[in-house]
Amino acid sequence: MTNIIRLKSVTSTNDFLINQASSENLPDLTFLIAENQTNGRGFATNYWESTPGLNITTSGLFKPSGLNTANLYIFNMCISLAVSDTIKRFLPENSNIAIKWPNDIYVNDKKIAGILIECFFTDNKLDYIIAGIGLNVNQISFDSDAPNPISLQQINGQQINLEVCFSTLLECLQERYAQLKQQAFDSIISSYHTILYKRNEIAQFKANDIVFTGIIKRVEIDGKLVIEDEQKNELFFNFKEIEFC
Ligand code: BTN
Repeated sequence: MTNIIRLKSVTSTNDFLINQASSENLPDLTFLIAENQTNGRGFATNYWESTPGLNITTSGLFKPSGLNTANLYIFNMCISLAVSDTIKRFLPENSNIAIKWPNDIYVNDKKIAGILIECFFTDNKLDYIIAGIGLNVNQISFDSDAPNPISLQQINGQQINLEVCFSTLLECLQERYAQLKQQAFDSIISSYHTILYKRNEIAQFKANDIVFTGIIKRVEIDGKLVIEDEQKNELFFNFKEIEFC
């Protein structure tokens, strides 16, 4: 069961839900969806562009049990998979949907959705997680300097009913969250790896200002990206320590 809050305009659905969750006892799977964000947040200090009424900007409150700081990354895998599952349902069968580590959703090398996960702890124990999702649905031009954005409508040429898209997203999130609650970790990890962007492909990367050639092998349970270099060494990277060239 989901609990849905709908608002016309907020600064950021993440900020609003974080505020609500800290002041009242909201149930697991509470979602806030807003038509407009005046200060949609991306990773770090990035801004999330979304023309009001055209896309999905939502945040969900999750209270998963059985997760600790060591396996928290599985939650990120679940949300990323749920967003890709949703996108899959609106695009042709052979569409090239991928999760770009750690949680950007790409179609044909362009970013269609972004995810912002914020975790809250009490006495070192996970209390709740707010997962913000921005999914580009009907926007057909983008003004910000976000690298290569794309929307569902731009890909399939048709306007998409936002309500249908949102309920599909909720369905996919509940399915993946159920997997997480059942501790089906291996299955989640394997699905994540199946659609991991550029996995097992030779690619150019940059770390510490050095460009090198390597192959993405996997993502560890703690979220580190594992790249095999040309000497067959496995290198481990945290987010922001490495970029694609
Ligand atoms: C990123 O790719 O940098 C993350 C983008 C996350 C955007 C969503 S939109 C809904 C939610 N509210 C926010 O302020 N941000 C997230």
